[in-house]
Amino acid sequence: MIELSHVYKIYSQSVHALSNLTMKIARGEFVYLTGPSGAGKTTLFRLITCYDRPSSGTVVVAGQNLSTVTPDQVPFVRRKVGVVFQDFKLLKNRTSFENVALPLEVLGMKRAEITARVNDMLDQVGLRYKSGYWPNQLSGGEQQRVAIARALVSKPGLLIADEPTGNLDQNLSNEIMELFARINAQGTTVFVATHNQSFISKGNRRVIRLEKGHIADGFNRPAPQLQEVAAREL
Ligand SMILES: Nc1ncnc2c1ncn2[C@@H]1O[C@H](COP(=O)(O)OP(=O)(O)O)[C@@H](O)[C@H]1O
Ligand SMILES: [Mg+2]
Repeated sequence: MIELSHVYKIYSQSVHALSNLTMKIARGEFVYLTGPSGAGKTTLFRLITCYDRPSSGTVVVAGQNLSTVTPDQVPFVRRKVGVVFQDFKLLKNRTSFENVALPLEVLGMKRAEITARVNDMLDQVGLRYKSGYWPNQLSGGEQQRVAIARALVSKPGLLIADEPTGNLDQNLSNEIMELFARINAQGTTVFVATHNQSFISKGNRRVIRLEKGHIADGFNRPAPQLQEVAAREL
């Protein structure tokens, strides 16, 4: 699903955000990305979501080499990837329903199908009953669930989440991670950056740790049962 090969991102002579990064994430995996602030996590996600390009090396997402993507193809690549941010990024003047509907409107989908898909997604995140609420009428956890519904409504194969629980307390963070686990169980590949040690240390998820733009040795815990899958898919 994601394959990086010798990726460098150099912002300036003194800022080497990513250095010689090589990694593979297979379809269906759930992987945590961790590491201190400034380690390069957001930079890596920006490359995967086509918001930036590597200085050198290759990034392949869903079979597409992003180095060869032309500007007019970028929206098609982005459609395959749902993105969730720490600060939710909901549009304030749109209700929950309207926020989730947005990606489907952009695709030019018919109204009846949009309504069905949005209602289904809001059901999945447990917020159908707040369809008509504005973002400022929702708690932080609810806003993040709406943002997750928006990221998934166009059925991307990959969900990228950049510190999605950074602004939430532990209970709400647990709910969000449980939601990601359910989404992953339905087949979506999940790649989530987090500082939350309680998620990283529990469970049997693969963890990739970045330090100063490198994959830190000794911190990369493979999920044993997925190694075979990884070998088969890529
Ligand atoms: N647009 C940019 N221009 C210059 N330097 C940047 C830019 N974005 C990030 N950086 C630098 O790249 C490094 C990695 O940043 P980032 O990817 O945001 O790390 P993380 O998400 O792990 O905190 C940091 O040193 C940061 O200051
Ligand atoms: Mg970051």
